[in-house]
Amino acid sequence: MAEETRGRLGGTAEEARGRLGGTAEETRIVKRRIHEYPDDSWTIERALDDGAYEGARKAITTMQPDGVIDLVKASGLRGRGGAGFPTGVKWSFAPKDVFPKFIVVNHDEGEPGTFKDRELGENDPHQLIEGIIISAWAVQAARAFIYCRGEFALGSRRLDKAISDAYERGFLGEGIYGSDFDLEIVLHRGAGAYICGEESALLDSLEGFRGQPRLRPPFPAVKGLYGQPTIVNNTETLGNLPDIVLKGADWFRQWGTEKSPGTKVLSVSGHVNRPANYEVSMGTSLADVLELAGGMREGHTLKAIIPGGASAPLLTSTDIAMDFESLKDAGSMLGSGAVVFMDETTCMVRNALVTTAFFEHESCGKCTPCREGTWWGVKVLERIEEGDGRREDMDLLLDICDGIDGRAFCPLGDAAAWALRSNVKLFREEFEEHVSLGRCPFEDEERILVGANQGGGSGEAGVMPQPAAGVPSDADTQS
Ligand SMILES: Cc1cc2nc3c(=O)[nH]c(=O)nc-3n(C[C@H](O)[C@H](O)[C@H](O)COP(=O)(O)O)c2cc1C
Ligand code: SF4
Repeated sequence: MAEETRGRLGGTAEEARGRLGGTAEETRIVKRRIHEYPDDSWTIERALDDGAYEGARKAITTMQPDGVIDLVKASGLRGRGGAGFPTGVKWSFAPKDVFPKFIVVNHDEGEPGTFKDRELGENDPHQLIEGIIISAWAVQAARAFIYCRGEFALGSRRLDKAISDAYERGFLGEGIYGSDFDLEIVLHRGAGAYICGEESALLDSLEGFRGQPRLRPPFPAVKGLYGQPTIVNNTETLGNLPDIVLKGADWFRQWGTEKSPGTKVLSVSGHVNRPANYEVSMGTSLADVLELAGGMREGHTLKAIIPGGASAPLLTSTDIAMDFESLKDAGSMLGSGAVVFMDETTCMVRNALVTTAFFEHESCGKCTPCREGTWWGVKVLERIEEGDGRREDMDLLLDICDGIDGRAFCPLGDAAAWALRSNVKLFREEFEEHVSLGRCPFEDEERILVGANQGGGSGEAGVMPQPAAGVPSDADTQS
């Protein structure tokens, strides 16, 4: 047993760290197996050799469901899908005496700029399945659904294979670990709508309807899929559970901050030398994150940062700790952890345009402020970028933001407003220059356009395929 579980049980803080040069370092919990076994981390053989399914075994054979909920509450684990809601607290909202209950994994990851769940699903599907087993035991759900982004071709194949391997080995199905607990997992591929990452729209989509947000309350934990108590959790959130169960809450709390314990996988992209997923202790400085990513591309300087997806208001300094509280205090948010570094060649009008166009495209159309407001935002930004802007357009854009923010039915609308407003407020002079020149001042610059996919592999300068869009946070709290 000791040999089989060595990967899991050996973990001291020092061992979990991976020094990459400089002072910046990664701290790997959910990405540890992927990093240590890059050739076969996704196979059941490797996963078992590394101690997979021992956390689930411990939970089911030695702990009461309420004990697991208390442990996860004590660990302080917060949702990694964007809202940062405490995971154990969410689980405790599910009524004890109502059955059936469901677990739904949010593996949709529809926002451009975030690519962490894709890597976790492709390269460590057994960690996710183990996390599902633990959460299902905690809330006593006998069926779980993985809502997988439709475009994840390799990821869904690997998840499919991993699920059948887990059935074959008796980790899923009837009487898991000799108990009387049964669990089925259904893998469902979405059709590619960003709004279907919003948990209530996701549930509508899973039920076969057009994905549009539901009025809340009731929250899914009380009334979710098919009207039954449903826990929706993000892939990365669930990936933390096996180690928390095996090693305890204090072990988990040795990383991060008091209110944001543990690690966060940050999807780093933009004008950096090594765009990739980096797992860091919560509270790591943005400067260290930039260092991990190899710094800005040669000869260029940092201009703006999207710290947590495109809905996160922009920052202009790396002097900030990457955790839920610090980013909120700085007027932005951690979101799903999509960090985009932009250099001085980036046109911020174009940045605002591409981002707002994304939200306009993905607006589900259910409510007027978001449906109409994002459309008008695109119209005004287009004319500024094309040289037909008017002097009053900046105030008009801020007015459009005020018309959406706080008035939309779901956080997608608010997010569109936050992103646009921060571009206009922080870079107003650049917007005004477009208007006074009657053209984009960046059109002659040698630059990598935001939106072009150049490079992207480790060690190459690259940008993400589209500008990051983010996962709204605070308004989306109680799930
Ligand atoms: C427009 C929108 C898109 C979202 N997309 C995702 C997503 O792709 N993945 C995700 O885990 N959460 C997403 N969320 C957040 C979910 O609604 C929900 O808070 C999350 O899945 C809960 O899991 P967690 O508590 O483990 O973070 C989105 C929210 C909104 C408003
Ligand atoms: S805010 Fe946008 S995405 Fe959300 S319900 Fe309204 S129209 Fe749909």
